[in-house]
This record gives sequence, C-alpha cells and structure tokens, in this order.
Amino acid sequence: MKKVLLICMALIMSLSVLVAGCGGGSEKKADQKASSTEKVLRIGTNADFAPFEFQDVDGKNYEGFDMDLIRAVAKEMGYKADIQNINFDGLIPAMESGNLDVIISGMTINDERKQKVEFSDPYYKSGLSIVVKKDNNDIKKFTDLKGKKVAVQIGTTSAKEVHKIEGVEVKELNSSADTFMELKAGGVDAVVNDRPVNDTYIKTTGGADVKALDELLTSEDYGIAMSKKNPELVKSVNAALKKLHENGEYDKIFTKWFGAAPKK
Ligand code: ARG
Repeated sequence: MKKVLLICMALIMSLSVLVAGCGGGSEKKADQKASSTEKVLRIGTNADFAPFEFQDVDGKNYEGFDMDLIRAVAKEMGYKADIQNINFDGLIPAMESGNLDVIISGMTINDERKQKVEFSDPYYKSGLSIVVKKDNNDIKKFTDLKGKKVAVQIGTTSAKEVHKIEGVEVKELNSSADTFMELKAGGVDAVVNDRPVNDTYIKTTGGADVKALDELLTSEDYGIAMSKKNPELVKSVNAALKKLHENGEYDKIFTKWFGAAPKK
C-alpha cells in the first residue's frame, strides 16, 4: 500500500495528472493492484506445521508442501510471494482486516470457516490422529481419550473434535510444536493433530519417546482461504491450481514432500 501511494504521488507530481483510483480505499486486493507496480501476493501461514509449513534451521526461509505449492501458484499468476508467519487463530482475522490476500496453512475447509472466507478447490486430503508416549497402553483409539488430558493447537479442527469427546480435559496451545512439548513434559496424556504432521514429528524428532496411533478421526480437505470480497482472486488461484495439476508441477511438489505421487 505504501509503495502504491508513493508511486501515485510520483506520477501526480511528474505528469501533473490526476490518477484515478490512487489513495483512499485501504482495501487494495491482490488482483486490483496497479499493473505498474510489482504484484505481490500477501500469504499468511502458521509456519510450525511440518511437512506443510515450517522455517528452515536458520529461520530464514519458509519450507514445506504448502510453501512450494503457494509459490508455484503465485508464479503462475505472475505475483511475487510474500509469506507472513502468524498464529493459526490469527490468520482469518488478519485476512478480515485486509492484511492478507491468501491463507495457506494446512487449513481444513469447513462450514464454520466458510462463513468468513472463501476457499479454493481442495488441494490435500488429511485427517486427525492421536500421539501418545511410547509406553502408554491405555489409549488405543479416540474413545479412550475420555477422562484424559489432551493437548491440541488452538483454533484447529483438532480442538473442535476433541471438545466433542465427553469428559476430556483439553489443553489448547499456540502451536503444534507446543502440543508435542507438553506431551513429552508429561503435562498431557495425548496430542491430537493432523496425521501427516504427527507422522513427520515422529520421523524427525520425537520417534524415541512417542508413537502415533493408526485410527484416523475425520476426513478433511485443505484449501487456500481468500476474502469473500475478492472472487476474482479465487478464480485465478483455482485456475493456477488446475494448471499445476495439468502440467505435473503439483505431483512433483507432492512427491518431494510425501515420497510418492498422490493417489488418483
Ligand atoms: N487442519 C487443521 C485445521 O484446519 C490444523 C491446521 C493447523 N495449521 C497450522 N499451520 N498450524 O484446523
């Protein structure tokens, strides 16, 4: 926005013409930016959710399936990707206040969110699973969580689903990393989280102490969220996703992060 204003002022000064559409309207959305400026896609994510979004060891780059996918989408649309790391429960509010163009954050498409945002076509199939300490033999399935302490990430479908189980004491924490830490520290009996994230945690960090259970609760589709006020952007993002499916780029990114091509 600042850039746009500066360019507008420069234009007015040098050409002494009135440039329509400059200034005012704090809600310049991705598709409506002046073509003379570099088009930037403001992307929100909660980068603590490997293999979908995380920061590399130096904390400089955002990596993961979602990150590669959204960069490819932005490129396809002719935008520069500007990734911002925000708490998961702050993502939709940030979009509602006009600070983000898209959210990609392993975000499940559901009716509650659809009242606030518009989703792209689904781009990944997921579901929830349980992680417990290796020596825990009481919890084998979701119904065993009754009467137990369970950590979940705040604002997620895990939080919503675990609250439905009778007699569970739910601890809502800021990030999925925090939920795993709480389990290791013995503050809870179990963690509920998206299965690919649980599996990645076990593969990369927690394998010696914790295990994931096989049962999958829910079947969820991830989508890219956008403002309801920007239907043009939704169309272009879907067109870009379609293109990436057609030209093999989606499969390439999928295989990079999940080791095999997606099931068709
Ligand atoms: N799929 C779940 C949901 O939409 C969890 C997403 C959490 N994403 C993250 N980047 N922490 O609620």
